[in-house]
Amino acid sequence: MAIERTLSIIKPDGVQKNLIGEVYRRFEAGGLKIVAARMTHLSPADAGAFYAVHRERPFYNDLVAYMTSGPVMVSVLEGEGAILKHREIMGATDPKKADPGTIRADFADSIEENVVHGSDGADTARQEIAFFFAGTDICPRTR
Ligand code: CMP
Repeated sequence: MAIERTLSIIKPDGVQKNLIGEVYRRFEAGGLKIVAARMTHLSPADAGAFYAVHRERPFYNDLVAYMTSGPVMVSVLEGEGAILKHREIMGATDPKKADPGTIRADFADSIEENVVHGSDGADTARQEIAFFFAGTDICPRTR
């Protein structure tokens, strides 16, 4: 399998619950490497643009309000098959459907407030990484 990069967000509820270390621990234990990371508080314009694909969905306004309700951690994770691996560690979008032991099964309160976000494919990963990070922000692991 190829080395991939994916965009990961610890959402405002995850930061509020003080889960930054626990979430990163799970990603690292799963073989993923953090190659860029920062905390940011999204503006409504940022959150609206990031989730533009969901613009017509009934939950869009609530999603933007939630994603701007507190700071988030945005990160780029790298590894073999990183996109799928990251999604496996997060679990299904709806925590009621997430496999036991996944981040969402263990920590998410609802399908709306589900602690983490991850890119869903290679094209999305490229776009989402570029949304938050310049190429020079990403630090290839040299050791
Ligand atoms: P995420 O993986 O970041 O992608 C879109 C987000 O919208 C999702 O996680 C949830 O935070 C939120 N959301 C709210 N309601 C729904 C829904 N019914 N289906 C999918 N996502 C939803």
